[in-house]
Amino acid sequence: MIKAVRGTRDILPPDTDVWNRVESICREVFALYSFHEIRTPIFEETQLFARSVGEDTDIVSKEMFTWDDRARAQSEKSQSLTLRPENTAGVVRAYIEHKLGETGKLRKLYYIGPQFRRERPQKGRYRQFYQIGAEVIGPPSAGSESPARDAEVLEVLATLLDRAGIKGWTLYLNSVGCANDRPRYLAALREALAGVKDKMCPDCQRRADTNPLRVLDCKVPEDQPIIAKLPRISEYLDEDCRKHFAEVQSILTACGVPFTLNDRLVRGLDYYTRTAFEFTHGNLGAQNAILGGGRYDGLSEALGGPKAPGIGFAIGEDRFIMALAGENAEQYKARSADVYIAPMGTGMNVHGARLARELRNSGITVELGDESFRLKKSFESAEKLGITHVLIVGENEVKADAFALKNLQSGGQVTIARTDLPRHFAH
Ligand code: HAM
Repeated sequence: MIKAVRGTRDILPPDTDVWNRVESICREVFALYSFHEIRTPIFEETQLFARSVGEDTDIVSKEMFTWDDRARAQSEKSQSLTLRPENTAGVVRAYIEHKLGETGKLRKLYYIGPQFRRERPQKGRYRQFYQIGAEVIGPPSAGSESPARDAEVLEVLATLLDRAGIKGWTLYLNSVGCANDRPRYLAALREALAGVKDKMCPDCQRRADTNPLRVLDCKVPEDQPIIAKLPRISEYLDEDCRKHFAEVQSILTACGVPFTLNDRLVRGLDYYTRTAFEFTHGNLGAQNAILGGGRYDGLSEALGGPKAPGIGFAIGEDRFIMALAGENAEQYKARSADVYIAPMGTGMNVHGARLARELRNSGITVELGDESFRLKKSFESAEKLGITHVLIVGENEVKADAFALKNLQSGGQVTIARTDLPRHFAH
């Protein structure tokens, strides 16, 4: 038997009802803040991710699905392509390619779709997973650098989680500095690591040279006392970054969005500057980051575009749904149909279908049986589908243009004229 590939999975009904409900809540909230949807391809040139997410990150160095796309004609070139491991790079590429900054407006874009990382699968970690993300990006003259944008993005998230019914989340907030202060911090970190890295795990020994910030993210228990003594980025922020970060915090406080400062929070992608954040949730176990994001002021330029500071986030939809499972996911499951139509006897499928069409056109959800079923089987089918009302369509009913409606719960039965049916089932 052929099964779904390790790290991928089928999402089946009724779970898909919950997924759809979550996505529509997000779309409603995005509309309230004037975000518009962007759809970018699920694969891009490998270079795009190498240059944005960063060559030395785990994502680019070992988790990408990359292949050589051979030219099929002389007019084509061979190229290295990659399934997107995240979507910020694609959005910024599209922003540059379509000159979205030339209007002088701030762009507020959102996306919903699959991402691909070749990680070791475990609870809450898949090789194909889904993100609901958003990016606010534009020329500095449109206010894209303002701390008000950072606070707004975080406030959208608080609204989203609250509206979806996810309780008990924690927002961890940090500033990872900018091109101006980062080199000083990295130098201090490298110097501190030089004396201690031999005592650390192999990953940290490697990161100490390639990407020292990532050392702060190490989860190995034995390394934690060493990490606790390393220099803190909060002490290296320059005046502008400090002011920017303070302003983000005061707007959040004014809006009543709770946050916890964590100056050890570094993200697994290299493009971040200044504000970086993660939301965690208690239901999720080891993979407890339900979403992450931050500011990426230099990314557009790194990809050959104009100056276009931006900030955004991506919610891990798989984890979002897991967090919801402990709360109120039941209410998101689709209701059973309002009525089961049971055509009784030869020639009755025609009449059943006509009636079903009429009722559905009036907004009533209908399940339709088959004329070959005996009444008992129709009742059982309706019961299995969780439907209480069965409308019987037999020869006599068709003649009278009135139908017997059986309530399976009470056992009662009434006769209702065709014209009264829509009103009877009205919600
Ligand atoms: P990220 O932190 O790499 O950020 O991913 C965001 C979220 O995607 C994570 O918090 C997690 O919930 C989910 N996620 C990541 N990997 C997996 C996986 N293998 N299985 C299940 N869920 C996963 C980004 O992707 C950035 N592009 C976010 C961003 C947008 N920053 C600025 N704009």
